[in-house]
Amino acid sequence: MGETTLIRNARWWRTGERIDLAFSDGRVLAGLPPSPDRLLDAGGAVLSPGLVDVHVHLREPGQGHKETIETGTRAAAAGGFTAVACMPNTEPPLDRREWIEWVLTRARDAGSARVHPMGAVTVGQRGERLTEFLALRDAGAVALSDDGKPIASAAMMRRALEYARDAGLPIVCHEEDPTLSAGGQMNEGPTATRLGLRGIPGAAESTMVRRDVELAALSAGRLHLAHLSCLESLEALRDAKRRGLAVTGETCPHYWTLTDEAVGDYDTHARMNPPLRSARDREAVLQAIADGTIDCLATDHAPHAADEKDQPFDRAPFGIVGLETALALTLTFLVEPGHLSLARAIELWTEAPRRIFGLPEVSLAPGTPADLVLFDPGAEWTVEPGRFRSRGRNTPFGGWTLRGRILLTVCGGEVTFGGDGLEVASTGDGRDRAAVAPPVEHHA
Ligand code: DOR
Repeated sequence: MGETTLIRNARWWRTGERIDLAFSDGRVLAGLPPSPDRLLDAGGAVLSPGLVDVHVHLREPGQGHKETIETGTRAAAAGGFTAVACMPNTEPPLDRREWIEWVLTRARDAGSARVHPMGAVTVGQRGERLTEFLALRDAGAVALSDDGKPIASAAMMRRALEYARDAGLPIVCHEEDPTLSAGGQMNEGPTATRLGLRGIPGAAESTMVRRDVELAALSAGRLHLAHLSCLESLEALRDAKRRGLAVTGETCPHYWTLTDEAVGDYDTHARMNPPLRSARDREAVLQAIADGTIDCLATDHAPHAADEKDQPFDRAPFGIVGLETALALTLTFLVEPGHLSLARAIELWTEAPRRIFGLPEVSLAPGTPADLVLFDPGAEWTVEPGRFRSRGRNTPFGGWTLRGRILLTVCGGEVTFGGDGLEVASTGDGRDRAAVAPPVEHHA
């Protein structure tokens, strides 16, 4: 057996019970070694399987000035994530098996988290011709998406859902009717009027959600609705579930924490697509998370260079970074006010996205990969974008004080973030082990 690490005095995410956990050679051990090579004291912090973010822009190939697979996965690890699914709107887009293989190789060589690429739905994401779904799947794509762009043609979307069904993959949709959003810079509403900016109505999203739900019904395909932002889209998702369709949906931290008023005085750090919406939409997002309409959470981590964001509002690119603030925004604005239990919140960042995207389960049961995160849900910290691991600093949350701090992230048994100050001298006499009994789930 290789080097052993024992984490003692943690709290199990699902039950709050005290737990000790040991791993070696990248896997969770069945027992607890009496004299581990490394002994970490969690001090009562929460231990859970590593988080998964199924909506991340890693920007490679082609846009390494915004982010790289190396910096993006380091940001993921700093946020408690051990796996990400990355979007194919790179340069060139991930529309061929060679690019999927390239991303996987790069991630293996330089990554601090597991990377699951998505393939493009259409060649060049131009909406004209479908890519080769089976080839992309066989190369390792876990889903197909033209994220950043809608699939404007309903006929193309129908075919995509049919072929993806046969390939066993979901189609992940950026829902936007380009005829309704054309020229739009932010949410349509009083703030856009005050700033003299052209608006994007919520209906630009929700009418496409309704269309694609019908096409999912027609094709028996699997549809995953990305970054949902408004009330009417959530109602459409609710209706789809009532009909028993294979439709799932995600939302992102900015939609439950902010409204379009955050654009303030043309702040490009509050500019993303879909845009921040009204207070009514924000309430609807909270409700849909709480009542189970939303199936999983994701960040839409969209790094851009400072000089790209530092432009007039209508010229700056859409998008904000999210990996390093996601868990704290979840704990501070969903768990603390009582919209969700801690266990449910973690489920929405772990088991739920894994199920939707068919990713390997991470249970921390003995023999399974040691992909885990340790966090202190009560610890306060202030967001300092200058300290992000991400190359992107484009966040509207700079200066916010949040609760929930990542102490340690481990991926495949390797420490990918933190751990400082947790290490204690091992007594080697077995006393640490005697004090605790692992909870039932752990050994299930
Ligand atoms: O805000 C966004 N940024 N929305 C998208 O759909 C794409 C993303 C990006 O790639 O920057």
